[in-house]
Amino acid sequence: MSTKATHQPSHHHEKSYLVTAALCYVNNVPHLGNAVCIIAADAYARFLRMSGHRVTFIGGTDEHGTTTEVKALEEGVTPRQLVDKYFAIHKELYAWFSCSFDAFGRTSSPQNADVTIDIFHKLEKHGFITENQVEQFFCEHCKRFLADRFVEGTCAKCSYAGARGDQCEHCGSLLTTAELLNPKCKICSSTPKVKESKHLFIDLPKMQEELTAWINSKEQHWSSNAVQMTKAWLREGLKERCITRDLEWGIRVPKKGFEGKVFYSWFDAPIGYIGITKEHKKDWHELWHSKDVELVQFMGKDNIPFHTILFPAFLIGTRDHYTLLSKLSVNEYLNYESGKFSKSRGEGVFCDDAKQCSIPADAFRYYILINRPENSDTVFSWQDFQSKINNELVANLGNLVNRTTVFLERFFSSEVPAGKPGKKEEELDAALQVLYENITQHLERIELKEALKEVMNVARKGNQYFQETEPWKTKDPTALWMLTNIVKDLALLIAPFLPETSNSITKQLHIALPTWHDLGKKSIHGSHKIGKPEHLFQKLEDGTVKELRERFKGKGNEASTAQEPAVLQLRVAKIIDVKEHANAEKLYVLQLDVGTEKRQIVSGLRGYYSADKLLGKHIVLLANLKPAKMRGVESQGMLLAADDGKDIVVLEAPKSNPGTPVLFDGVEAQPKQQITYDEFAKIEILVKEKHALWQGHALIADGKKIAVKMSDGAKVR
Ligand code: 2FM
Ligand code: ZN
Repeated sequence: MSTKATHQPSHHHEKSYLVTAALCYVNNVPHLGNAVCIIAADAYARFLRMSGHRVTFIGGTDEHGTTTEVKALEEGVTPRQLVDKYFAIHKELYAWFSCSFDAFGRTSSPQNADVTIDIFHKLEKHGFITENQVEQFFCEHCKRFLADRFVEGTCAKCSYAGARGDQCEHCGSLLTTAELLNPKCKICSSTPKVKESKHLFIDLPKMQEELTAWINSKEQHWSSNAVQMTKAWLREGLKERCITRDLEWGIRVPKKGFEGKVFYSWFDAPIGYIGITKEHKKDWHELWHSKDVELVQFMGKDNIPFHTILFPAFLIGTRDHYTLLSKLSVNEYLNYESGKFSKSRGEGVFCDDAKQCSIPADAFRYYILINRPENSDTVFSWQDFQSKINNELVANLGNLVNRTTVFLERFFSSEVPAGKPGKKEEELDAALQVLYENITQHLERIELKEALKEVMNVARKGNQYFQETEPWKTKDPTALWMLTNIVKDLALLIAPFLPETSNSITKQLHIALPTWHDLGKKSIHGSHKIGKPEHLFQKLEDGTVKELRERFKGKGNEASTAQEPAVLQLRVAKIIDVKEHANAEKLYVLQLDVGTEKRQIVSGLRGYYSADKLLGKHIVLLANLKPAKMRGVESQGMLLAADDGKDIVVLEAPKSNPGTPVLFDGVEAQPKQQITYDEFAKIEILVKEKHALWQGHALIADGKKIAVKMSDGAKVR
């Protein structure tokens, strides 16, 4: 032992932490289930700060990828407009939830492009990038390569008709492009072609050994589901992974021969944590290149291999000594009542709904954290939510804080009396000490649910002590002094979980937020003057719960299978020829341009439109209607028109190209091969405020509603 070693007073080791929450996709408003990982990361970041550590808490939006392009198409905006809109929505909602990000940014920032390109160049320099030809589905109509989730067809192995581009859900086989029979573009239902394209890959097999050694050194710090999944990947042998895509929207690949391609969004998304730090923090480079910084990452279960294998591989391969993942905290899923959250069905509580319910954000944080799906999925139910608010937040925590402050105000003129601890107090302190140590340990291990349960046990102990000492009879100063200090401890213990509640308690006690080192200390002394008592939480009444359950129940379970109009295949078609039917005085024979093909339909418009009025119109064609002969002439589909009993008006999408899909907003199209007229006639489409609606979903083309010049109530057929 060194003779120079002197005895240092034992003080806490202050460390530097990077805490990340998985970056959110921006094609939707987040629901409560999506918020689980972010609120958990926030609670942990707050705990670390209160323990005296230096924390940079990073979050933001994952903005590239096919989903963004397709959603933008649907909303009729550019991808940039779409991500700007959703970035603002996400940012505002997490602020409402009191998420204490030190850096909240986006993967589409110039800073992230810089970091991504730098990492790519270094991977290339060190020989970890390879080139390969890839076969991909290409939709001639949509003019795009189709990501796997946008192709559907029949599985060559089991004949299941709903197989996805890369995998059959029915038999579980992974499929190559040749093994998906009868492929259909999910965006427009036409048949895509197979095209070859050159792509860049990261050579994971070359890193297998190095990654395995690194992962083995991490085993004791990761949750078992993460270790298992990661080891399964390693056992199977790592494969080369494609890191580029044929898309418009994304970070351009800076390499000759790859113009017109962008990086795969799972390449620049995890790198986004670094890009976002660069966007907001001067010391981003030190933080991300340090052995002494601990990187703790929060994510959902489906994100594990991207964080335990791919992201580390991107960083290790640069030979740049990046800060690598230390701990990770994985959550499973939070479901809603009897099913899943679904924006299109209006089912479940979304973060914007939560904000409008006039229930405080902390109540939602409490519910999310006490139900955090740590080891298995959990369910949000209104009944459970109500019982947790009323029995735990109101009757336990709220009650202790309120009765203590009200007593001080009423019987001690808001001045904390001096106390002399007796045997009872010593016993209580000993019991609390055990709880405090448990809570701290749980928090250190990121067992947030257990930690929060124990915090509520502290409140329970306080309430018990209140009952036993009966201060309403005794006006015992010691009891009130004890209780005030327990409430102070609760203000700090609850702070990581319920920051606004903690603020309210410290305000009522008229103290600054204590740190973790103050835990268990009797730091509020006699003669300290407290502030005004106020209630922390309000009871959630039965009537309100009923209302809220009704409001968010969505369109029920029958709608959770495909929605009725999903079976329709609707397209914009241009009328290129109009002839009168030789054997029927009410009928026209129309020739249509449907983009990729020509069609003939027979239509009963002769009493309503002259031939030259029809010629050149862009109409809406029901393209998968069973062909039929009408007075001897073949009709391959029908056009949609509104009918108010007196007049008939043809639906038009004048600015859309022939072949453009026409959809009901929010209804995912799953057209049948063919439908009968009777099937179509059952789907009630009505005119309202000059638009054609099915159950409130407007008919759209190119993301814009189709206008119908007819009054409310007219039927579309
Ligand atoms: O699964 C998801 O929601 C992804 N957007 C998570 C990305 S995490 C990080 F890598 F950006
Ligand atoms: Zn298509």
